[in-house]
Amino acid sequence: MVSSKTLKMTATSLTARGFRDALGQFATGVTVVTVEREPGTVFGMTANSFTSVSLNPMLILVCVDERAKILPLLHKKKRFGVSVLKHGKQAISEYFAQGEQNSEAEHRLALHYRSTPSGVPVLEGTLLQLSCSVVAAHVAGDHTIVLGKVEEGEIQNGEPLLFFRGEYRHIGRP
Ligand SMILES: Cc1cc2nc3c(=O)[nH]c(=O)nc-3n(C[C@H](O)[C@H](O)[C@H](O)COP(=O)(O)O)c2cc1C
Repeated sequence: MVSSKTLKMTATSLTARGFRDALGQFATGVTVVTVEREPGTVFGMTANSFTSVSLNPMLILVCVDERAKILPLLHKKKRFGVSVLKHGKQAISEYFAQGEQNSEAEHRLALHYRSTPSGVPVLEGTLLQLSCSVVAAHVAGDHTIVLGKVEEGEIQNGEPLLFFRGEYRHIGRP
């Protein structure tokens, strides 16, 4: 008997919704990928596909939707920041998950960017700030896997914002 808590799936029976729900079982952190759009202005996108790839050389990846506005900027600028959000910062995640970005909204959210020594914008007040250069971009289905070489990193204290089953969570203390 299959209990209500188990759901068996085959590739043919899996719908797009079911696939999303299946992948949502994997808890992740939440990052904001940032690119300098033009001098002094930044464009960002919320991404939880961030993954470590290699220690030597230091490589990370992020998978970007083919329709995402940030993708042409990543191809053009070839450098990007990755900022890992802290617990309680879901408003920032939501802001960078919708296409419209403007300075008033960023002021309300108290968003501050800083430029790393290599000139990449990252978000202040985040757990981890990485500046990366694009070393490869592979189209994979409806996303592009963007491979980044890490040039600089800064770590801060704090707890992470988590994403699990389509919802924001936080680490519970045992
Ligand atoms: C928690 C969370 C994680 C996300 N992760 C990704 C991701 O890894 N890659 C991606 O392309 N979109 C991801 N998205 C969706 C994008 O943030 C969103 O679709 C995009 O910013 C919309 O902007 P656009 O107008 O440029 O398409 C995520 C959204 C949320 C809320």
